[in-house]
Amino acid sequence: MLGSGGREHALAWKLAQSRLLADDSDTFYAAPGNPGMAAHARCISLDATDHRAVIALCEGSRIGLVVIGPEAPLVDGLADSLRAAGIAVFGPSRAAAQLEGSKGFTKDLCERAGIPTAGYVRTASLDDARAALDRFEAPYVLKADGLAAGKGVVIAQSREEADAALADMFGGQFGEAGAEVVVEEFLEGEEASFFALTDGTTIMPFGTAQDHKRVGDGDTGPNTGGMGAYSPAPVLDETLQARVMAEIVEPTVRTMTDEGMPYSGVLYAGLMLTNEGPKLIEYNARFGDPECQVLMTRLESDLGELMLACAQNRLGTCEPVRMRNETALTVVMAASGYPGSPRKGGAIDLGEAEARGAKVFHAGTSLNGEALVANGGRVLNVTAMGATVARAQATAYRAVDAVDFPTGFCRRDIGWREVEREAKG
Ligand code: AMP
Ligand code: GLY
Repeated sequence: MLGSGGREHALAWKLAQSRLLADDSDTFYAAPGNPGMAAHARCISLDATDHRAVIALCEGSRIGLVVIGPEAPLVDGLADSLRAAGIAVFGPSRAAAQLEGSKGFTKDLCERAGIPTAGYVRTASLDDARAALDRFEAPYVLKADGLAAGKGVVIAQSREEADAALADMFGGQFGEAGAEVVVEEFLEGEEASFFALTDGTTIMPFGTAQDHKRVGDGDTGPNTGGMGAYSPAPVLDETLQARVMAEIVEPTVRTMTDEGMPYSGVLYAGLMLTNEGPKLIEYNARFGDPECQVLMTRLESDLGELMLACAQNRLGTCEPVRMRNETALTVVMAASGYPGSPRKGGAIDLGEAEARGAKVFHAGTSLNGEALVANGGRVLNVTAMGATVARAQATAYRAVDAVDFPTGFCRRDIGWREVEREAKG
């Protein structure tokens, strides 16, 4: 398992329960892992950008499956290097990971395949981009083409603001990722996420989730990687999910395969539920963080078997994914300063949090001797299940309140939309 965040802790927790690891002689490695993952895996240091080192470790330890958690190594082609060495890997090739690695690539693919998404123009210079603004109305949506750690999207309320943002983007604010900018139509609606496993032939729905991107209560303040999430997302009902499969996910997977870039791994569709139906906002080539934490909490199927089946192009031999029919909700506890400059080193005592019925995933922690300390922006994901969103929320916050983390903070309203809907009945 490659990675070190809350997503990877949740995956490691679930993978450790797999039948594939049932034998005492099996060893589960996490690289680099984190103190939470150390309960399930042997954590080792490994430079994922050094493909030869990764292959050498896999060959030396006879690794049967590599799971790549984050997007950077995927876009960097690590899955290709491993496959070329005959090592099974869960995660798309470099070509297929362009669905996340290049916004322009994905928009063009949507156009070729007739997938509903916001109208757009790809631009490669400041002049082109400014001219493209003429074709749209405020608010303007501007996206750096490449990976920008979730920070590459600007929604500008005025032409002046858009002009200034474009100058920053082409001025190198996002480095190479901003060499191209996609200007697109603003979509109105509610956002939701849909996940599917695929080996390029079989596509298996893997559930839905909603996250809270803004740092503050009431969805205010700057964007973050996500301050909390819940699954399922009731707004994405069965009918809408069938439409997302038929109109968005299936044509994407089919087109990628037809064009010689078969997609293998998890495909995460960020959607806007508009008056005209679901439209694609973006794809990610990996699980969402913290969406993964709530999906894994609900998952009943053997994750290892599903991932190995994807890696071996035989997902069609697996039973459909089984998820508990309850809500899982996770609250992110972050270090003060996040999403700007998070304060590192703050002491953490998890206390009775898990005894109160939650699972605490480590997202950015490290050990200072015996002591657990904050070592990142998003630090803990306190995750609970419940028969309703309100109950899952109540259990999660009871556990949050048992955590002693003086330099941390969290939102107090994760799940508010659904809690309100439930209250209205
Ligand atoms: P992305 O990184 O593409 O998910 O964009 C980050 C956030 O910007 C999304 O989660 C949306 O809230 C917002 N966003 C992106 N594209 C659009 C769009 N075309 N219309 C409205 N909001 C958007
Ligand atoms: N939580 C959003 C993401 O993982 O991209």
